[in-house]
Amino acid sequence: MRYQGKVYRPWPEANSLLIQATLGCSNNQCTFCTMFDDKRFKIREMDDIFADIESARARYSEVRSIFFIDGNVMAMRTELLLAILNKITTTFPECERIALYSCLNDLRRKSDEDLAALKAAGVSMIYAGLESGDPLVLEKIKKGMTAEQARDGMAKAKKAGIEVLLSFIFGLGGKDRSEAHIQATTALLNELKPEQIAPMALAVQPGSELAQEVARGEFLLPTPLQLLEEERHLLANLKFDTFYWGDHGNNVLSMKGWLPEQQPTFLARVEHAMAHHPIAQQNRLLTQPW
Ligand SMILES: C[S@@+](CC[C@H](N)C(=O)[O-])C[C@H]1O[C@@H](n2cnc3c(N)ncnc32)[C@H](O)[C@@H]1O
Ligand code: SF4
Repeated sequence: MRYQGKVYRPWPEANSLLIQATLGCSNNQCTFCTMFDDKRFKIREMDDIFADIESARARYSEVRSIFFIDGNVMAMRTELLLAILNKITTTFPECERIALYSCLNDLRRKSDEDLAALKAAGVSMIYAGLESGDPLVLEKIKKGMTAEQARDGMAKAKKAGIEVLLSFIFGLGGKDRSEAHIQATTALLNELKPEQIAPMALAVQPGSELAQEVARGEFLLPTPLQLLEEERHLLANLKFDTFYWGDHGNNVLSMKGWLPEQQPTFLARVEHAMAHHPIAQQNRLLTQPW
């Protein structure tokens, strides 16, 4: 396999074969994100992609799961993506699931017919970033997506029967907008009802626009206690069936499982951590008025 640039895959895809059909992210401007800042968005040559698929076949006797890497695979023309999917299913007849990264906006731009064809060709799941449900935060982070567009993108996925894992970011509103950010995000998630969700604590990446805002004092980082307060609000107010991937390495607590079954347990863990976690306690000492 000949991967170009930084390679990311969601942690649930640890056992998947990674295929690179596109390079970079067609948006590539979110202030917090440096994942694909080392390359310009480009669709790779079909011959190169097919050669990678062949070389993976020669190397691996069994491939049950495939993930398309890089930021926004749905920005690719549907006919090209269908041709690659066709090559995958003929080369790996044993493959049971195919997933990819896509912006909800690019999902929204596909027609119902295109999405139905992609689903029929094997795409079963999409990893997309919501980041926030708060219009002010969405604008500030330069996501290039409104809450309304997120609704339309999700509606398209539901209609096509393609599962969506939505990621979003604890702390993205900063210290000042922590409450508004999590309230709006929780409310929007309750409308969108993604099949899986992945909350991630904000990481300030060196070289990002956000890191510059932090350095200039324009973005005040939320405290770990605020991150826990956001997780408590989320878990106390989510009202649909979903899988909770709250175990990203950045998160204060690591929890994963089905909601609503495990909601009371997770909520109790957050409340316990807020009362006893050394980071939260230190934080309370630092922030308590006197
Ligand atoms: C490849 S993107 C998801 C697909 C698509 N590009 C999109 O944004 O919809 C990966 C996701 O990782 C998360 N992420 C990226 N940078 C992050 C950061 N600095 N801190 C926390 N989460 C981050 C965001 O939720 C982002 O949507
Ligand atoms: S979060 Fe997604 S859309 Fe935004 S720059 Fe990163 S990869 Fe691109």
